[in-house]
Amino acid sequence: MQNNNAPIGLFDSGVGGTSIWQEIDELLPRENTIYLADSRNAPYGEKPTEEIIKLSIKNTELLLEMGCKIIVVACNTATTNAIDLLRAKYDIPFIGIEPAIKPAALKSKSGVVGVLATKGTLNSKLFHETANQYGGETKRVEIVGDGLVPLIEKGVFKGPEIDLLLKKYLHPMIEAGVDHIVLGCSHYPYLIPAIKSHLPEHIELIDSGYAVARQTKAILEKNRLLSTAEPTDSNGYKIFWTNGDPNPLSQLIKIRSALGSKPGIIPTILEKEF
Ligand code: DGL
Repeated sequence: MQNNNAPIGLFDSGVGGTSIWQEIDELLPRENTIYLADSRNAPYGEKPTEEIIKLSIKNTELLLEMGCKIIVVACNTATTNAIDLLRAKYDIPFIGIEPAIKPAALKSKSGVVGVLATKGTLNSKLFHETANQYGGETKRVEIVGDGLVPLIEKGVFKGPEIDLLLKKYLHPMIEAGVDHIVLGCSHYPYLIPAIKSHLPEHIELIDSGYAVARQTKAILEKNRLLSTAEPTDSNGYKIFWTNGDPNPLSQLIKIRSALGSKPGIIPTILEKEF
């Protein structure tokens, strides 16, 4: 039985997918949402495909138990390694996030774009298929952002450790003449100020958060699953489950709320073993 007021479920290897949650919340404020931060198992990007699939199944089953009507895989690594299997296994719509190669290739004037993502994403079959299909003639400089996710998971978004890594990863892109850099990991939008401080002004950053939110809305509409809450109703409930340290998560939700969320949203952060 379809339930329009069932929650949208989201999961990520940790706190990064809150960058996607925020876009969804902005576009669909009356929807109820449940977010799983699998921080205990982060980073996914270094794990073998079979393990990423196993973790994605575990997260999906928990969200299904919680009655979610649609699942947003708010993690590039889980999407590129597991979404085909999840779609085949479960009878519920899935939205994924993949590095935004297409808009970067369309906008690029230099014909060279950078992609900063995890090893798991850059090595996946799905990423290569999509990138080759939509990347056209554009040359890609693909760099693994090793070490960034564990720092973000600890609530570190700037400072010497971040700068050291960013310098190492961004330098080859700048040298190769990129004019766009695709942020291919949902954790990386939290590094935008730090990343920008290492780049000449003409290099643009591209992330997929807003596109994922638009796609979520379109799929809910297509399946007649949009919330039936009236425009005058207050916002939906926003629940965050974490199996790690709740502090970085609460810090990010607070940053996000201060940046743009409407009054009335009171995110609830809860701890759980999963
Ligand atoms: N946030 C994830 C992504 O979008 C995964 C990071 C990780 O756990 O390695 O790829």
